[in-house]
Amino acid sequence: MKKVNTSSLLKMKQDKQKIAALTAYDASFAKLFDEQGVDVLLIGDSLGMVLQGADDTLGVTVADIAYHTRAVSRATQRAFVVADMPFMSYATQEQAFTNAASLMSAGANMVKLEGGTWLVDTIKALVERGVPVCGHLGLTPQSVHVFGGFKVQGRDDLQAEQILDHAKALERAGCQLLVLECVPVGLAEKISLALHIPVIGIGAGHKTDGQILVMHDMFGISANYMPKFSKNYLQQSGDVRQAVRDYIQEVQEGVFPSTEHSFN
Ligand code: KIV
Repeated sequence: MKKVNTSSLLKMKQDKQKIAALTAYDASFAKLFDEQGVDVLLIGDSLGMVLQGADDTLGVTVADIAYHTRAVSRATQRAFVVADMPFMSYATQEQAFTNAASLMSAGANMVKLEGGTWLVDTIKALVERGVPVCGHLGLTPQSVHVFGGFKVQGRDDLQAEQILDHAKALERAGCQLLVLECVPVGLAEKISLALHIPVIGIGAGHKTDGQILVMHDMFGISANYMPKFSKNYLQQSGDVRQAVRDYIQEVQEGVFPSTEHSFN
């Protein structure tokens, strides 16, 4: 079993093979997801909401992410492991270096940062120092209070153009993966076509190079509510392993997300 890496993820995009990703926070689920063939596991700061019960992700610390990254990476053999940099943990380059180092030494293969062109120098500096970076654009949950709620982004032409420009800038800076969250299908398709690096969508339609869901949403067990863009795969089969296999298959076949799980 060959470990997924940045080269194989790039090849998947070039071969038009969709990437199936899920969040994971502990060893048992990470092992199960890995064994079923999930390509990328993200220790998301969504853990603030689904594990800690907060209303947003802002209270999550580097220590929280490092703790869960250690558990996930120990149990993972094949999947590529990405760890979220929490809110304000990359506000300066020095903070980014120290905190990315903590997450990489906890077992992450890549770190994910939310934001656009303002991160270009930080991303360049991280990549130069050996830290692979995933960008995150669209609805970036760490900016929820700037957005005034969890709202679809890029619906008007100007905002769509800005998100596309940010995406190109992140790729030029050295990002090797991009998460695109809650944007209209047409914009997600445009960005996926414009970039050479794989684009993983969540609430971004079926035209991206892959999909990611928060695992609790995918099992329909999130404490608060079920986002429109998610699908309860446990309901279909009643079996955890089968639910994961169904998710992977629907992503690979481009069946998920359907229009019902997408925005225009
Ligand atoms: O924190 C997280 O789980 C994420 C995904 C929603 C992409 O960033």
